[in-house]
Amino acid sequence: MTKSDIGIVGLGVMGANLALNLSDKGYRPCVYNRTSSVTSEFIETHGQGRDIAVADSFEQLVSQLGSPRVILLMVTAGRAVDAVIEQLRPLLEPGDIVIDGGNSNYQDSNRRWLELAAWGIHFVGMGVSGGEDGARFGPSLMPGGAAAAWPIIRDMFQAIAARVGGVPCCQWLGDGGAGHYVKMIHNGIEYGDMQLIAEVCHLMQHALGLSHDEMADCFAAWNGGRLESYLIEITARILRQRDRDGSPLVDKILDKAGNKGTGVWTAHDALDNAVPLTLIGEAVHARLLSARKAERIAAAALLGSVPALVPTLVPEAERAGYLDALHDALYAAKLVSYTQGFMLMQAAAAKNGWALPFGDIALLWRAGCIIRSRFLADIKTSFEREPVPPSLLQDPFFAAEIKASEAGWRQSVMLAVGHGVAAPALSSALSFYDGYRCANGSANIIQAQRDFFGAHTYQRIDSDEAKHFHTRWLGDGGEEIVS
Ligand code: 6PG
Repeated sequence: MTKSDIGIVGLGVMGANLALNLSDKGYRPCVYNRTSSVTSEFIETHGQGRDIAVADSFEQLVSQLGSPRVILLMVTAGRAVDAVIEQLRPLLEPGDIVIDGGNSNYQDSNRRWLELAAWGIHFVGMGVSGGEDGARFGPSLMPGGAAAAWPIIRDMFQAIAARVGGVPCCQWLGDGGAGHYVKMIHNGIEYGDMQLIAEVCHLMQHALGLSHDEMADCFAAWNGGRLESYLIEITARILRQRDRDGSPLVDKILDKAGNKGTGVWTAHDALDNAVPLTLIGEAVHARLLSARKAERIAAAALLGSVPALVPTLVPEAERAGYLDALHDALYAAKLVSYTQGFMLMQAAAAKNGWALPFGDIALLWRAGCIIRSRFLADIKTSFEREPVPPSLLQDPFFAAEIKASEAGWRQSVMLAVGHGVAAPALSSALSFYDGYRCANGSANIIQAQRDFFGAHTYQRIDSDEAKHFHTRWLGDGGEEIVS
């Protein structure tokens, strides 16, 4: 019997499309789905003329695979992954490879990597981005886990991944949960990019009074420049979409954003690692606020709402200038978001002992994934500098870019504030920028307050940083050295 190159468990949208992609590239998948009718339907619809094997049980799946066995799990992240691994594990042998291609939490991947290593089984946690189309024709793949698995699976996954100039968007990222960690950051950045675009749309509509077609034209034009990216491109298409009655479909879509958790994990992780990930945090909070629809409706009635609050739109003659400003604001805020995302990955790499290849991460997001954009090639260049700048905002190229965008960015935030249009991501990015480039900030006041009410001590600018002082604020006002 001809053995299959890879077993695929789970024939949902992603699993089915990855199976077809593998088949297109000359690999022979063997597919299994818990509900067998899904497998039959998949074979009936897509299997004709293809060399795709089918299994009705895990035993059958395992018996059809060449050695070492490579099994890709495309099941819902969480308990289902553990349940499948539990059933597969007794059927596997040392050296076999189990790959989890779902949106799993990287801590679960760390755990599964260790648990399976105890049985000699190589676990790989692989972030897969790009949705249905990506999976079918070239996703961005973020594998990490048991390094011994990489030489065995590399060719297969690099063959099905997206490519830019011949370079596959699939590189090994490190031990344990490194792959799913990078995918989590990808998703956090995805949340930030989406939120920024949504804020810009809202400003175009409620402060500038643009029609949906005008907004679409603007995004389509921006997609030809520095902002060129998948999310800008699809936003132009979304804005042009009409409902059955001919009106813009987006206006009929309920303004409650869902989320499957990866953005929340990113925000949590940033707090755990003491990294100021403000933009992605705001994007998560904005989704949570959006979900409180009934409460917002009541608040709008009580407090007044856009556009009723500020009915005057920007005069038509000033629109073009504001659109340029919004373009610059979007670009600058996006830069802050990626700066923060890479800051977090640097902190996590140090904490987890991962040698994350930051430049390659930027490259493997250039195609196939949801955050793909022109911008990412410049990030790779920054990580190739000697020495690597402490953050992207201190890279000479990005520093010049953000300074050139600053005036428009401020103008956009003032537009939002003046018109009462919520723009938390655009404005918090600007606050981060102002805080980041502030050599003498306001934390001296905080330190004084901490020392006043709790004797938490402070350091002095005219003394060695190792020395800590306390002032007897309510006593004689004298200062003492505490340590
Ligand atoms: C991708 C996406 C994808 C994610 C969805 C939904 O890279 O293809 O990140 O993996 O699941 O975008 O995420 P939310 O439901 O959390 O918005």
